[in-house]
Amino acid sequence: MSNAIVFAFPGHDRLATALVARLGAERGRLALHDFPDGESYVRLEMPVAGRDVVLVCGLHRPNEKIVPLLFAAGAARDLGASSVGLVAPYLAYMRQDRRFEPGEAVTSATFAAWVSSFADWLVTAEPHLHRRGSLADIYAARTGVVHAGEAVARWVGAHVRNALIIGPDRESERWVSEVARLAGAPYLVLEKTRRGERAVEVSLPDIAAHAGRTPVLVDDIISTARTMIAAVRALREARMPAPACIGVHAVFAGPAYEELQAAGAGIIVTCNTISHPSNAIDLDGALADAAARMAGALAGAL
Ligand code: R5P
Repeated sequence: MSNAIVFAFPGHDRLATALVARLGAERGRLALHDFPDGESYVRLEMPVAGRDVVLVCGLHRPNEKIVPLLFAAGAARDLGASSVGLVAPYLAYMRQDRRFEPGEAVTSATFAAWVSSFADWLVTAEPHLHRRGSLADIYAARTGVVHAGEAVARWVGAHVRNALIIGPDRESERWVSEVARLAGAPYLVLEKTRRGERAVEVSLPDIAAHAGRTPVLVDDIISTARTMIAAVRALREARMPAPACIGVHAVFAGPAYEELQAAGAGIIVTCNTISHPSNAIDLDGALADAAARMAGALAGAL
C-alpha cells in the first residue's frame, strides 16, 4: 500500500479503479457542485496531508473542467499534500501549437503553463504532437506519455485481415508507420489540406498495388470527422472496400460520428480515453502503469 490517494472527476471511475489497484492507493472521495451563479464548489472529503494526491480528469471539453481541477489541486496543496499528479487520458488544447494568424493565442503553451502551475506531474495518452517533439517542450511539470500504437496494432491484427494502414496526413506518418510495422501491414499516408474547421480535402496516392487489401484509417483525434470523411470518400471513389476507421481520441463533435457512419465508413473504433460507444481499445492499464512509473520516479527524487 502506497500513501497515494486517487480522486476521480465524474466519468472516470473505471480508470480510477485501475489506478488504485496499480498504485496500491486509496480511493478518495471528491464532492463537486455548481452554485446557482455558476461558480464551482470543490471538496476533498478525505485527508491528504503528507500524501501523494492523484487527480483523474480527462480534458475533453476542457473549459468546464479546468476550473474545478485547479481548485481540487489548490485544496490538496493547501491541505498539505506531498505531491499532486494529474492523469488526463485526453489532453486538450494541443492543436493550436503556433500562431497561424497574427494575434492568435498559442493555447497549447498557455494551457501547458496553467496545468504545470498546479500539477507536479501529468500522465496522458497520445497527445497531439504534430509540430512539437515532446510535451517537455511546453510542460514544466514532469510528463509521462502512453502511446496507443501497440494497442491499435493489436486490435488491427485481431480484427482485420490483409490490412493496409492509412494515415490521413504527412504528420501522422511517424506513428502510422509504427502501427503498420507492429501489425505486419503496409502503410501509406494521404496529402491533406484543411481549409477551415469543417473543410478538409485529401488526395490519395496511386493505390492500385494495394487492391484486395482492407483499408484501415488511423488518426489520433476524430473531432468533426471531416478528415476521416474525406479519406473514406476518396477510398470509396478508388473502389476500395469500406475502410475501418480508428481514432485514438473519440472527440466526435456534434453529429460527427453519425456523419462518418453515413459517409461509408466500415467499423469505427476508438481507444477508451474519452467515453464513447465506439471505444474498443483499452488504454487504462497502460495509463496506470505510466502513473506508477511517475509516482516511483517522484519518490526517487525526494
Ligand atoms: C490533425 O492534425 C489531427 O491529427 C486530426 O487529423 C484532426 O484533429 C482531425 O480533426 P477533424 O476530425 O475535425 O477533421
